[in-house]
Amino acid sequence: MIDPTEIRKSFPIFANNPDLIYFDNAATTQKPDIVVDGICDFYKNDYSNIHRGIYDLAAITTQKYEAVRDKVATFIGAPSRENIVYTSGTTAGINLVAFAFLAPRLQAGDEVLITAMEHHANLIPWQIVCQSKGATLKTIPVNEDGSLRRDSFRSLLNNKTKMLAIVHISNATGYINPIKDMINLAHEFKVPVLVDGAQSVAHYEIDVNALDVDFFVFSGHKVFGPTGIGILYGKSEHLSRMEPLNYGGSIIKDVRFEKTTFLEPPHRFEAGTTNIAGVIGLGYAIDFINQFDKLKIQQYLKYLRNYCISNMQEIKGLRILGSIDDKNENGAIISFLLDKVHPHDVATILGVEKIAVRAGNHCTQPLMDFLELPGTSRASFSIYNTPYEVDQFVRALESIQQFFK
Ligand code: ALA
Repeated sequence: MIDPTEIRKSFPIFANNPDLIYFDNAATTQKPDIVVDGICDFYKNDYSNIHRGIYDLAAITTQKYEAVRDKVATFIGAPSRENIVYTSGTTAGINLVAFAFLAPRLQAGDEVLITAMEHHANLIPWQIVCQSKGATLKTIPVNEDGSLRRDSFRSLLNNKTKMLAIVHISNATGYINPIKDMINLAHEFKVPVLVDGAQSVAHYEIDVNALDVDFFVFSGHKVFGPTGIGILYGKSEHLSRMEPLNYGGSIIKDVRFEKTTFLEPPHRFEAGTTNIAGVIGLGYAIDFINQFDKLKIQQYLKYLRNYCISNMQEIKGLRILGSIDDKNENGAIISFLLDKVHPHDVATILGVEKIAVRAGNHCTQPLMDFLELPGTSRASFSIYNTPYEVDQFVRALESIQQFFK
């Protein structure tokens, strides 16, 4: 069983901020002691640069840094450590695929397909690549509740489609895309698929091999790890055909004034001194998550979301964007609107009560435009959140609604 009260004890932020109700986990998660202390310990005891020094300390740091690559590969079911590229986050991973994989292959008249619910990070890179090549960015529409129009998806795939890029779990609504079905169908058209797993990796078992996904990206900071570190998984057949995107040291086999040759993947994509401590911290974050059964995490977060929704439904004039059916699978996110109160005002007043939620378009402006919404307020949960916190949150929402009545 997930015991949030016990889990909270591993997160120093809660001891240091006893009144904090942190419901902004879709934006970033808090960090457990194992990550904070692990990074500190690394800087105090093992720190040096990697892949360069010949002294013992450099060898230890390099070994620890590379060991995390194996850990990540196992964590997401990748066939090999060579499939794991360290990036600075989900956004960097998507940019790498857009500019190093797709751009050289894209031609005028081609199409790239995304959903209408994508985060800007999984929209703009494709848009820019399409614009530069005379290709067209197409979007699979969504229903009023933010769910995918599955019927439209098939009709948008054709032999001009050169890439499908989809979010696993929407950061704006918590809607879960049927990624396995989408990947299978895209592959029938020989279309490679990138899945943005930023919101899913912390709560769902990911097996990139079983999914047969071509690229999978996520960020360390949303899985209890540090900021500035992320992962791009890519199939070997793709990574091996990609040129570096950033050029510099650490990625070369041989440099002459006339010509440079590059290391094999994944190292050819990791120019410069990378976020070494970030990688070490991510390793500890994975150790932390691996203590828990992902199914138990999902069960607990489903319970918490349903409990919160059933209480929120008592508030007159409150509308929840997305599924409220407790039988439906949904990410641990509740996006909502109070009539007569702007989402920013809701979040500001909650903030005064020490309840942290996000408000606005959640970096999904086209989705909000499509749904004709000014944005929403969003509560997003993690395994350290409790029903007691939900009660406080719902009580605060009731007061806001009363005040603006
Ligand atoms: N993508 C993050 C969010 O949804 C920052 O808040």
